[in-house]
Amino acid sequence: MSTTLTDRKKTSVLTFRQKKQRGEPISVMTAYDYPTGRLVDQAGLDAVLVGDSLGMVVLGYPNTLPVTMEAMIHHCRAVARGVKTALLIGDMPFLSYQISIPEAVRNAGRFLQEAGMDAVKLEGGRERAETIRAIVQTGIPVMGHIGLTPQSVHQFGGFKPQGRLADTALKLLEDAQILEEAGCFSIVLESIPARLAKFVSERIHIPTIGIGAGVGCDGQVLVLHDLLGMFEEFKPKFVKQYVNLHEVILQALTSYREEVESRSFPGPEHCVDMSDEEWQKFLEQVKE
Ligand code: KIV
Repeated sequence: MSTTLTDRKKTSVLTFRQKKQRGEPISVMTAYDYPTGRLVDQAGLDAVLVGDSLGMVVLGYPNTLPVTMEAMIHHCRAVARGVKTALLIGDMPFLSYQISIPEAVRNAGRFLQEAGMDAVKLEGGRERAETIRAIVQTGIPVMGHIGLTPQSVHQFGGFKPQGRLADTALKLLEDAQILEEAGCFSIVLESIPARLAKFVSERIHIPTIGIGAGVGCDGQVLVLHDLLGMFEEFKPKFVKQYVNLHEVILQALTSYREEVESRSFPGPEHCVDMSDEEWQKFLEQVKE
């Protein structure tokens, strides 16, 4: 019997592993607040990532570096209130896990204890292995993230694809194996050659979630505002825009402004009225 969207069970990290074993693709989408969390959940996606990409697409920063723990906790809480079944993954922001292992464990714990998340994601390869091990040992599922890791944008000299040379490709494969060994339940592969992503996916036992990494990954993730066409400032090659909400919303707002200016909004159907009798009584009271 097939599962309908109404009788779905809560997704867990075990679901991720089972889906990989069965060869079923995993769908992940970012969300940043209550309505977008609800929408992604209602559409039946496996997981919601509250990405630090919110710094760019929601808060208007040029990159993800200014995003703080407090901002992440605030947005994660809102998303969690809207999600019933999707796995909730909170993205650890810059400097929340790099300074010391105890600080990383404490901050990872806050995503579960205060923000209602089921798991955390953090960026980096072998240099994060010890930190990941400590967080996982605390009982917190960790998603890794390698390839184009946006928190290292200045080190990369821009948002550039990674792993295009044989030695950097080999380093990425090794990093994926190290992250699996450190205990990650899944790994995001961002902006790396499609054939490398497929090769990596076939050599590790945990699911890879690709963004700009081709169809050979075990699942896919996109930034919601890119898919909806709400972020026109920066459009990576790998983004597929499914709708142009920027245009739709701009059109709606322009119509609203025009109708306010021409007094055609609000119409009688948008107004509250009172009975003639009450109105007369009111006028008499005013006269007194
Ligand atoms: O911050 C984010 O949204 C991400 C995804 C693009 C993987 O890290």
